[in-house]
Amino acid sequence: MAKTVTISGADALSLEARLLCLPVHEEDLAGKAAGPVAALDAALDGHLLRAARAEAFAGKAGEALSLPTLGKVKAERVTLLGLGPRAVPGAGGAGGPPVEAHEALRMAVGKAARGVKGGRLVVALSGGDLAGAARAAVEGALLGAYRFERYRSEKKEPGLTGVIVAVPGAAARGAELKAAVALGESLAGAVAWARDLVNLGPAECTPSILADAAVAAGKRAGLQAAVLGPRQIAALKMGMFLGVTRGSAEPARLVTLSYVPKGAAARKRKPVVLVGKAITFDSGGLSLKPSDSMITMNTDMAGSAAVVGAMQVIAGLAPDFPVHAVFGACENMPGGRAYKPSDVLTAFDGQTVEITNTDAEGRLVLGDVLAWAAKTWRPAALVDVATLTGACMVALGWTTAGAMGPDGPVVDGLLAAAARAGEEAWRLPLCDSLKENLKSDRADMKNAGDRMGGAMSAALFLQKFVKGTPWAHLDIAGPSHSPKERGYVAKGGTGYAVRTLVEFVRGWKG
Ligand code: BES
Ligand code: MN
Ligand code: ZN
Repeated sequence: MAKTVTISGADALSLEARLLCLPVHEEDLAGKAAGPVAALDAALDGHLLRAARAEAFAGKAGEALSLPTLGKVKAERVTLLGLGPRAVPGAGGAGGPPVEAHEALRMAVGKAARGVKGGRLVVALSGGDLAGAARAAVEGALLGAYRFERYRSEKKEPGLTGVIVAVPGAAARGAELKAAVALGESLAGAVAWARDLVNLGPAECTPSILADAAVAAGKRAGLQAAVLGPRQIAALKMGMFLGVTRGSAEPARLVTLSYVPKGAAARKRKPVVLVGKAITFDSGGLSLKPSDSMITMNTDMAGSAAVVGAMQVIAGLAPDFPVHAVFGACENMPGGRAYKPSDVLTAFDGQTVEITNTDAEGRLVLGDVLAWAAKTWRPAALVDVATLTGACMVALGWTTAGAMGPDGPVVDGLLAAAARAGEEAWRLPLCDSLKENLKSDRADMKNAGDRMGGAMSAALFLQKFVKGTPWAHLDIAGPSHSPKERGYVAKGGTGYAVRTLVEFVRGWKG
């Protein structure tokens, strides 16, 4: 359901809502209360700070204190959202990726929004970087309230109906604030769109359905779209892609969406190209996965959902260089005509690949699509996003993506974009010593090697097909889906990388 997003310069205590959220830092509760906390405490007859003391609420990140207002202010409840200390966390060399300045707010608002059972939520912001905080609050609220209810037969619970960002009077009319809120709303819509596709069962998200959904969304956003079927993919000689499709009854699709800028000079600039993995179900093929590992393999198209989600926002941002998105969609199935371990496939670019494991299918499809994209568009930056390896999850866990690629502006830009977007990414090395892994006795290379270092071997495989094109690879096997709810992150599909890709394009100087 569409949720309304508004900016208000009115006193937050006067706004009618189900829930009024007041973000607080630890310092706001340490000494004598001042500002919005003091105002709310006074409106509630001192009840707020007494409750905070009674519950030992100190404003730590992740803490929340919720109270009914019993008619003292217009909102039915108030929640103090702990943000931790005022200093930006993670900026002081904690050892991990830099933490986006408003991530604690995004997480806290997300959790609060999930709990709103019908009605509006107000987030009261008082100072500092209002635009950044407003964007984070909008993203957090809309994404925290996200639900996937397509497969529920019982009546759906009412949820969040709208978000009001309350800011001090004059600030409400600021153009920067308005643009930030609009961007937050657009991003949240695109992330939800991606989550919906990732959460579908594979019967409702076949390669052709995924292609149609991408084209429909692309056209709505004003993008150009093209879809190729099995015959055209065969005519292009994408032998690796075709190999993977062979065990499946579902016809494959090669989908491109293009943002073409208005001016002739801008149109002539080298494009950014985004490539997504789009395996709509990964059974492993003849190298069949164990039953338990197969359960989540409807999410193996999350990379494509992320690039198409990002393109919808990018169209609205209208950068002054072209941006293309492309994905090769198919299933990986063990049918009677399936490709087999010991098969040798000839790639789009003529290189030959010995198949040693049919479950290393993503790199085969991506290799052909990357080589085709590099040749077709000669991009200034080529970025692929893929649920590529279990090894990357073992290395970095559920929440952090692995970024790989040769030194240069693409991998740097991708890591910086993730940090600005509030998504965790960490670089893994492309070591020469691992290239041994891909050596074949029978062909130019093999598709799978040692389990150890699997995320990097997969990236080294991809690198053989992008050759010199400026490129980075983002392995999202971990963060593409979540086993539990966490702040604004939903259980199931997360829409990870939509926000990073948009930030990447926003930050790209061409
Ligand atoms: N889609 C999987 C990777 C994956 C695993 C994503 C778990 C999300 C959660 C990929 O196609 C795959 O099967 N990779 C193999 C590669 C191996 C055979 C070299 C893997 O990681 O085990
Ligand atoms: Mn696989
Ligand atoms: Zn896969």
